[in-house]
Amino acid sequence: MFSIEPTGQACGAFVTGIDLRRQQDPDTVADLRAAWLEHNVLVFPDQELDDPQFERFAESIGPIGDDPFIEAMEGKKRIAAIQRRADETGRIFADVWHSDWSFQETPPAGTCLLSVVVPPVGGDTLFSNQHKALEEMPSDMRQRFEGRTALHSARSAYGDDGFYSEEGNKGSMAITTSETARDIRRHPLIRKHPESGRTGLYGGAYVTGFDGVAEAESQELVKELYRWQSRPEFTYTHQWQPNMLVLWDNRSVLHKATGGYEGHDRLLHRLTIADDRSFYC
Ligand SMILES: [Fe+2]
Repeated sequence: MFSIEPTGQACGAFVTGIDLRRQQDPDTVADLRAAWLEHNVLVFPDQELDDPQFERFAESIGPIGDDPFIEAMEGKKRIAAIQRRADETGRIFADVWHSDWSFQETPPAGTCLLSVVVPPVGGDTLFSNQHKALEEMPSDMRQRFEGRTALHSARSAYGDDGFYSEEGNKGSMAITTSETARDIRRHPLIRKHPESGRTGLYGGAYVTGFDGVAEAESQELVKELYRWQSRPEFTYTHQWQPNMLVLWDNRSVLHKATGGYEGHDRLLHRLTIADDRSFYC
């Protein structure tokens, strides 16, 4: 049985005493899944995994997700690279609070990142606990958001007229853009986690407005929500070491990349995990 040590911040726990190179038995997978739902972010230090081992671990949590706009690494079927070279000077990829692919009809339940090249400074990943963000939301503010349906779109990032439609903004990431990024998907802002039943906020940077709300008011609500969701007291700052695997729950947390490692390479391998209804309570 593995050991769990909470980070002491708003979410996240370290998991030790487990070798992810091996196939886990069903009881261990069930325990890991329970820990994941409880802590929202699981950090596994000292896991030197090859590609098949990384994929096997992700698949033990759920089927691999469908990833638009970021191509798999050359020679790999599904693993994508989150990378930045030492000489890059452009904007940091994913430096806004978001839930991965929340503009999809069924966004991924989880995301796994495995660190390969870690800069000696900077490059932390921040997580924000959206159950806590809702629980601590003042009642007058909550009234403004109760019952709202959020509109999610990838257009400003991945649209054919979005940020990454400029070749120079892609850095060394294998990003594609498409007119399909203009699609808008609706998700309730306040909702129960389908597996844990815990209520939380589901939003982030892909939220462009709210259903049935006039544009100007919608934009004010989007800004107010984002400011609240990203308050420091809801967050966990994850500092990477080489060979760390981090698994987070996109239904419970937002996340955000940070810079501060100019002049250093950084490479993480990524897989998303589909939202599998067979796990719903
Ligand atoms: Fe992300």
